[in-house]
Amino acid sequence: MSVVFEDVHYIYPSKVHALNGVSVEFQPSEIVALMGENGSGKTTFLKHINGLLKPTHGRVIVEGLVTSKASVAELSQKAGLVFQNAEDMFFESTVFDEVAFALRNFGYSEEKIRKRVEWALKFFELEPYANQSPFLLSGGEKKRLAMAIILAWGPRIVCLDEPTIGQDSIQKEKMRHMVKLLNLQGRTVVLASHDVEFVAELKPRIILLSKGRIIADGSSEEILTDLPTLEKASVLPPQLVAALKRVEDLGIDYRVLDVDEAVEKVVKAINR
Ligand SMILES: Nc1ncnc2c1ncn2[C@@H]1O[C@H](COP(=O)(O)OP(=O)(O)OP(=O)(O)O)[C@@H](O)[C@H]1O
Ligand SMILES: [Mg+2]
Repeated sequence: MSVVFEDVHYIYPSKVHALNGVSVEFQPSEIVALMGENGSGKTTFLKHINGLLKPTHGRVIVEGLVTSKASVAELSQKAGLVFQNAEDMFFESTVFDEVAFALRNFGYSEEKIRKRVEWALKFFELEPYANQSPFLLSGGEKKRLAMAIILAWGPRIVCLDEPTIGQDSIQKEKMRHMVKLLNLQGRTVVLASHDVEFVAELKPRIILLSKGRIIADGSSEEILTDLPTLEKASVLPPQLVAALKRVEDLGIDYRVLDVDEAVEKVVKAINR
């Protein structure tokens, strides 16, 4: 098991109860999307995986390490988090050094570091900015730099907080590609997202959070077509599901995430 949450509660010093008894397990090579309304606890959940936050009650176990007993250094080798606000991750004076920082800490040779950094910057189309300050990048580029940092250091568990914010359609496609690639390499990817169309195409396991509790856990096909449950978590269904639901009277099952499958069903219904 790569991540285990055992009855995890988390109360911020401000007394906000952000997680209220979360128990869940992720396998290696699973893609999981956390969805739910603003303030439902998604970011708080992710910060428990990389050990930035430790449970107030309960345990989180990451690749066999109980996070409350492990050091940040030990945990950061196992799990990396791309912050919702990417800028919070930056402190170096160039884009290159920002990606190289963690690798230098891991003690890699300069040659290996250069290769890895160049590869990660190329993947995210950031090489032209290598010698520039990370703070001058556009919003979308900052997010991609944050991704490049994590991609270069290559942890077994990759947590992405709102990965598609500020990304154009081509970059979203690349993002989806990257998530699948990481998954094929046997890594666990856990992402928090409000972007239901992105999630519907990725088709991960979905966990719906509401007020710090898990209210549903299942496949994309199950969760994204379960309209009453989505409503409880303030998540709108994918456009395709919403559209098919409106023509349900034609005898079409609206529980479809795939465009080709939907078209086939509609054509069949019209021809009947
Ligand atoms: N540093 C903090 N100090 C105090 N309360 C916090 C802090 N961070 C988050 N909270 C509170 O904890 C709850 C959960 O917040 P969290 O950021 O985990 O939600 P979220 O699901 O990621 O929301 P969003 O969709 O807006 O990103 C919210 O009520 C929030 O106000
Ligand atoms: Mg959040």
